[in-house]
Amino acid sequence: MLCEASHNVAKTSSTRNLAYSLAEMGQRVLAVDFDPQTNLTISFGIAPATVKESTASLMMKMLMDEVLPDKDSYILNIGRVDLIPSKKALTVAEVNMLIERQDDCLDKLLSPLRCDYDYILVDTGPSLGSLTINAFTAADGIMIPFDAELFALVGLKELTDTISKIKQNLNPKVEITGIFFTKCSKRTTLYREISEQVHAAFGHLHIFESRIPATVKVGTANSKGLSVMELDAKNEAAAAYMNLAKEVLANA
Ligand SMILES: Nc1ncnc2c1ncn2[C@@H]1O[C@H](COP(=O)(O)OP(=O)(O)OP(=O)(O)O)[C@@H](O)[C@H]1O
Ligand SMILES: [Mg+2]
Repeated sequence: MLCEASHNVAKTSSTRNLAYSLAEMGQRVLAVDFDPQTNLTISFGIAPATVKESTASLMMKMLMDEVLPDKDSYILNIGRVDLIPSKKALTVAEVNMLIERQDDCLDKLLSPLRCDYDYILVDTGPSLGSLTINAFTAADGIMIPFDAELFALVGLKELTDTISKIKQNLNPKVEITGIFFTKCSKRTTLYREISEQVHAAFGHLHIFESRIPATVKVGTANSKGLSVMELDAKNEAAAAYMNLAKEVLANA
């Protein structure tokens, strides 16, 4: 399982395109929208208002110890990728998780589904609140997108410190799968420097070779409910996400 976390660093775009790429490579993939912003759901061409069951309703049922509906009622098939969509009401579940200190609701939802998939990709929101803690508690691995333009080494340190605490207290199996660079411009010397600095500060972590180039096509694809490969297979970001998926498989 992979999931990600920080603000506007291309978590959702990467979950969307990595899910598509892994599925294209024959993997059984489930994508989970665990952000009340519902951007992942929209990026799959699904209007959240039309959805009956979502991570919001499922988390509320978990919290109230209600029986879950049949999985066919909440798993949507979108091409080769399966999706559990989200709704804004996930914020209500988040507050309840916080009050009741429930860190393992998502883990309980996903555990019975693990055998059906090779990869379950959970898209988290920008804050390190109880939803993200739930995601980290459920995860085997965490993929960290690093926005090369923002270059927020301090944010990366805060995130890796939080993951260490989760590992100690809630989820001993969780590992950082690796860091990958997103929104990269063509300035190769700059990326060599950035890469060196990230290696120097986080040398113990895996840093993926694949760099996702900056291109408006990623945003255009998201808004059309497509992966960037479906929008423009020749686009460099499409190739970069395919390469990233290959690296993920090679490191599995
Ligand atoms: N490779 C890219 N090149 C250019 N723009 C990109 C790229 N990837 C993502 N973006 C844009 O950056 C913005 C943030 O992307 P995205 O929504 O995937 O980030 P996020 O980390 O999920 O954000 P949030 O913290 O709000 O959940 C969007 O406008 C998206 O279109
Ligand atoms: Mg997002």
